[in-house]
Amino acid sequence: MLEVTGLDKSYAHGREVLRNVSLSLGRDETLAVIGPSGCGKTTLLYLLCGLVQPSPFDHDADHTPVTLDGEPVRKPTPDIAIILQDYGLLPWKNARDNVSLGLKVKGVDKRTRNKAAKDMLARMGLSGRENDYPGSLSGGEQQRVAIARAYVQQPKLLLMDEPFSSLDALTRERLQHTLLELRRDQRIPYILVTHSVEEAVFLGQRIMILAGCPARVQAVFDNPGFGREGHRATPEFYDLVREIRQSMEVLWCVES
Ligand SMILES: Nc1ncnc2c1ncn2[C@@H]1O[C@H](COP(=O)(O)OP(=O)(O)OP(=O)(O)O)[C@@H](O)[C@H]1O
Ligand SMILES: [Mg+2]
Repeated sequence: MLEVTGLDKSYAHGREVLRNVSLSLGRDETLAVIGPSGCGKTTLLYLLCGLVQPSPFDHDADHTPVTLDGEPVRKPTPDIAIILQDYGLLPWKNARDNVSLGLKVKGVDKRTRNKAAKDMLARMGLSGRENDYPGSLSGGEQQRVAIARAYVQQPKLLLMDEPFSSLDALTRERLQHTLLELRRDQRIPYILVTHSVEEAVFLGQRIMILAGCPARVQAVFDNPGFGREGHRATPEFYDLVREIRQSMEVLWCVES
């Protein structure tokens, strides 16, 4: 479904951030991405949804490094929803209108979109907060509104940039479960960037490590227990967490 081949990115002044990143994500698959701060994870998500353009690959203008269902992704599309690191909510719209914005753009009538927004906000534990504006919501509540907004659009692919970073441990665990439930119900594949190895192993069917300067894909781990009931409490879960941590220690060490 999503195919990424030989993706390179340099910002202005020639700073090369990503080199030759390739990955593929099938329908119904999930991928967690881990990497040191500043290595290019957010940049990767921006490239995947067309918010940022890749650098030319071997000066070949016809090379399209990112395709979704065979179509090049060159600019933002409603098929790919992204939850930004800073939530990206509109401060002048209340929670309900922020969530239903994508449906409005698609021409869904007001009653239907308000109901969808209310239901999704309830799923995120925000019943009764529909009329609140982002300025009066906590960081974690804003994050949850942003997640609701992404899901309600029913995109083909969901990209999430540290979506649970400002939540307390219990709310975080609850929402991680909600994310798995939503995936089961709606079958929307996602790519999740996180700094937490446990979160990566809980939410990623595969876990990709991005590191280096410029960053490259350093390793990809399979996670056979992903999605299984009680996965978080199994020896396989802890073994994989340990294995990923060890490989991060080596990579981060080489870097510094
Ligand atoms: N618009 C830009 N122009 C120039 N350089 C940029 C731009 N955006 C990001 N960078 C640089 O690219 C590098 C990668 O940034 P990015 O935000 O992708 O990192 P990250 O892995 O998401 O970091 P973090 O874990 O801290 O969120 C950083 O060195 C950053 O300074
Ligand atoms: Mg980032």
